[in-house]
Amino acid sequence: MKNRVAMLHAFGDASEIEVETQVLPTPISGQVRVKIEASTVNATDIFIRKGIYPLLKEKPPFILGYDFVGTIDSVAPDVQDFAIGNRVCGIIMTGGNADYVCCSESLLTLVPQEIKGTLAACVNLSGITAYQMFVHYAKVKSGDRILIHGGSGAIGDTLLQFGKLNNCLMVTTASASKHSFIKKSYGATALDYNDKDYWEDLDFVALGGFDAVFDFTNQKSFNRSYKYLKKGGRLVTYAVYSSALAIKYKTPYTFFKFGLDFLLMMLKLKWWNVIPLGKSALFYGSTDSRNQYPERHNKDMRDLFKLIGDGVLVPLIYKEFKIEEVVDAHCILESGQVHGQIVIKNVH
Ligand SMILES: NC(=O)c1ccc[n+]([C@@H]2O[C@H](COP(=O)([O-])OP(=O)(O)OC[C@H]3O[C@@H](n4cnc5c(N)ncnc54)[C@H](OP(=O)(O)O)[C@@H]3O)[C@@H](O)[C@H]2O)c1
Repeated sequence: MKNRVAMLHAFGDASEIEVETQVLPTPISGQVRVKIEASTVNATDIFIRKGIYPLLKEKPPFILGYDFVGTIDSVAPDVQDFAIGNRVCGIIMTGGNADYVCCSESLLTLVPQEIKGTLAACVNLSGITAYQMFVHYAKVKSGDRILIHGGSGAIGDTLLQFGKLNNCLMVTTASASKHSFIKKSYGATALDYNDKDYWEDLDFVALGGFDAVFDFTNQKSFNRSYKYLKKGGRLVTYAVYSSALAIKYKTPYTFFKFGLDFLLMMLKLKWWNVIPLGKSALFYGSTDSRNQYPERHNKDMRDLFKLIGDGVLVPLIYKEFKIEEVVDAHCILESGQVHGQIVIKNVH
């Protein structure tokens, strides 16, 4: 049995990734080994590859891949809640773009047999992020008016699907080539963030205010998003994407600049919650959320699998790649042409 892995040799561009064949890993105390069916390549993997993901403690060489879906084929003797043959998914930050991975049983959730592995992979990180922000943070209600930044992205598309299910009136932002799909599929108003009149257009559609805004883009956008909230409205931020995109790879200077941008966002959120305008501003972090509320995480994953099983949620897969094609997957995601998600499908 071979274990092909997407190894990152140094922080930098996609050329630093090499697909290598290794011996199968052995689970240590508390761990299981999973034979992987599918994983994803998403924006966070790119930031990890560049070395600017704040939660990453590892240094290269390490195996890329934030998440995975597969079947347990080996367990350490002290594993309590899982057994060989269980179908599981996990969010592990690194190691998922491989044929096999060993990880702690505490990071696993059961996946129903009837759910396709590639679809289950899509809700692992992006799906749970969209769901928890929508349900627990923004607390969106039927008929709410909502603004979703980046509606063509992995998280943005999932938010649009939840918005449609809840009969929301939706405005979203995306590159122009993706607007017709968004309008046709979700009935949302789409604005092009590359357009020179973008900010004026956004001011116009925001008249009357939003019940909830989901924003991960940049400081100027966060300021507007907060301004556009109605009384009682909620802003949910979850990244500072533009400054992360601007960094080619980690240097002390770029990391410092990125950190300052992040800090500025967090300070703004604190300040906005102090001003008595009846609006709130929150930051969502999936890792913190899972660590703080593991039961809620597992229940939400079950809800997501049910939505997929019922055909109500259909993760939008832009393209499936083989493990040998991980470098291509990174390049295509960085090119900006992707609409939805990139999945790595393992052929054993
Ligand atoms: N807080 C958390 O727990 C958490 C969890 C997962 C991910 N994230 C973060 O969330 C962010 C989005 O992730 P994702 O996987 O959805 O990313 P993605 O799939 O790459 O989507 C990015 C979206 O941003 C749009 N976009 C690109 N440049 C932009 C700009 N300058 N201004 C406004 N929009 C722009 C893209 O539009 P076009 O493609 O149409 O141009 C696309 O809709 C990333 O920063 C990721 O690290 C956070």
